[in-house]
Amino acid sequence: MSAGLFVSFEGIDGSGKSTQARMLHAHLQAGGHDAILTREPGGSPGAEEIRALVLNGAPDRWSPETELLLFTAARRDHLERTVRPALAAGRTVICDRFADSTRMYQGLRGAGLRAQVDALHDLMIGQEPDLTILIDMDASAGLARAVARVAAGGGGEDRFEAFGGDLQAQMRQGFLALAAEFPQRIRVINGARDVDAVAADVQATVAERMG
Ligand code: ADP
Ligand code: TYD
Repeated sequence: MSAGLFVSFEGIDGSGKSTQARMLHAHLQAGGHDAILTREPGGSPGAEEIRALVLNGAPDRWSPETELLLFTAARRDHLERTVRPALAAGRTVICDRFADSTRMYQGLRGAGLRAQVDALHDLMIGQEPDLTILIDMDASAGLARAVARVAAGGGGEDRFEAFGGDLQAQMRQGFLALAAEFPQRIRVINGARDVDAVAADVQATVAERMG
């Protein structure tokens, strides 16, 4: 059996990743495709426990280095228990955030930390998605969506959103730079449109990659 396709969604908080990942999953399943929907941090029981540790509490709860280790531990567990078994069974894996989020969020938090992020990734993860969809949009508009979602009770973890708008703007530029660094893998889609228009582009991009 051939390995399944591994698709990740990336972008700043509030850009619409979770919405689009869910819609892609529903679309593929409706077409008779065997696909799973998962997320990081989390996606396996152990990694979900680490998620609770890392996303709740004060912004200075963890140093950038400790945080990097926690996210990497969560990813390793998620890969071992969820992602690799599904890919090996020929299933498509749709993942809401993956290693590019660590490159951005932890890589930008500490001076020179990106080199450590890359070294740890090579040592402990060593796997990239086949396709990464970067949902790109203005940082303040994304933050406003994320804040509105939390206010509506749709997502309680706020440790990262507490880092504020400047960091979100840096993240956006960082993600676009990453897309330029990995042009074969990362496709940029404009997220500042209505949900269905974004979803249509996502579907077309995945269909093209599936051949
Ligand atoms: P992310 O996972 O990137 O943080 P979400 O998918 O959770 O983003 O979306 C954040 C909020 O914005 C949610 O309340 C969601 O319903 C809303 N939203 C998502 N996509 C769009 C869109 N294209 N236009 C307007 N609102 C959107
Ligand atoms: P998520 O629940 O996807 O937040 P949102 O839906 O608001 O985008 O992710 C939670 C936070 O975790 C998000 O602010 C980004 C952060 N994060 C990292 O800092 N490093 C990582 O490796 C991952 C996967 C996420």
